[in-house]
Amino acid sequence: MKTTANISQIRQQVTAWKLAGKRVAFVPTMGNLHQGHLTLVKEAKKKADVVVVSIFVNPLQFGANEDFDGYPRTHEQDSQQLIEVGADLLFMPTPEVIYPKGLDKQTFVEVPEIGDEFCGATRPGHFRGVATIVNKLFNIVQPDVALFGCKDFQQLLIIKTMVDDLSMPIEIIGVETIRETSGLAMSSRNGYLSADEKQRAATLKQAIDSIAQGIQQQGEIQSLIDNAITMLEAVGFNLDYLDVRNANTLKVATADDKDLVILAAAYIGKARLIDNLHFLIK
Ligand code: PAF
Repeated sequence: MKTTANISQIRQQVTAWKLAGKRVAFVPTMGNLHQGHLTLVKEAKKKADVVVVSIFVNPLQFGANEDFDGYPRTHEQDSQQLIEVGADLLFMPTPEVIYPKGLDKQTFVEVPEIGDEFCGATRPGHFRGVATIVNKLFNIVQPDVALFGCKDFQQLLIIKTMVDDLSMPIEIIGVETIRETSGLAMSSRNGYLSADEKQRAATLKQAIDSIAQGIQQQGEIQSLIDNAITMLEAVGFNLDYLDVRNANTLKVATADDKDLVILAAAYIGKARLIDNLHFLIK
């Protein structure tokens, strides 16, 4: 696996692959790779001939009081894991390569509406930062297909919308969330949890499942959400949001909606965890 921080080297390599008729897949990450990321790379290998991975902790998607400085950077270990799963090219730019004029002089990409609520409301500017970096990485790498984890459900919808709105010729694939045996969704931020917090954090998935089960049994949505909140607070979660929405628009689910998503974000210890369940009403 070649590693570079240089945009023209990425372009040269990808151009050579495309001239040789190869299909290029791309997996953007912020590093501190876990099984979730490695699954994205493995899936990417099934969808294309070559796989480019990026590791860039994007300052533009962190708020002033968030964990940008403390975000785990484990480049050597990440690199080793990427070699083991067969990634072909690693792009690991510095902030100066990506934002040479500085963050405040950068052109932004903003996807309207779908990013206004949930993580968009709690983390103002977050999705603008995500859409901007993903757009920029897409322009650098020019992949045929890009893969993202479904754990960041709202992020995935925003990226799909951006690609559609801006007519980008890239197929976007969402890959199912990888979980610990406890059910806890894998996340780089799980590293902030103590062993005890990690055990309690598994309740997030149980709470989401209890809502889905209740909906399938025609339970009343708000009381199912209220019971789930009680469950979460009992183990020490501090809730950011928990809601049931139309899975395509993220608008409030109506009685006619059959394609639903339960979205949750909650704090436990120092970690802000997100999770979701996308399901069809039977
Ligand atoms: O999901 C992430 O890790 C990041 O938001 C992404 C897509 C790599 C953009 O920085």
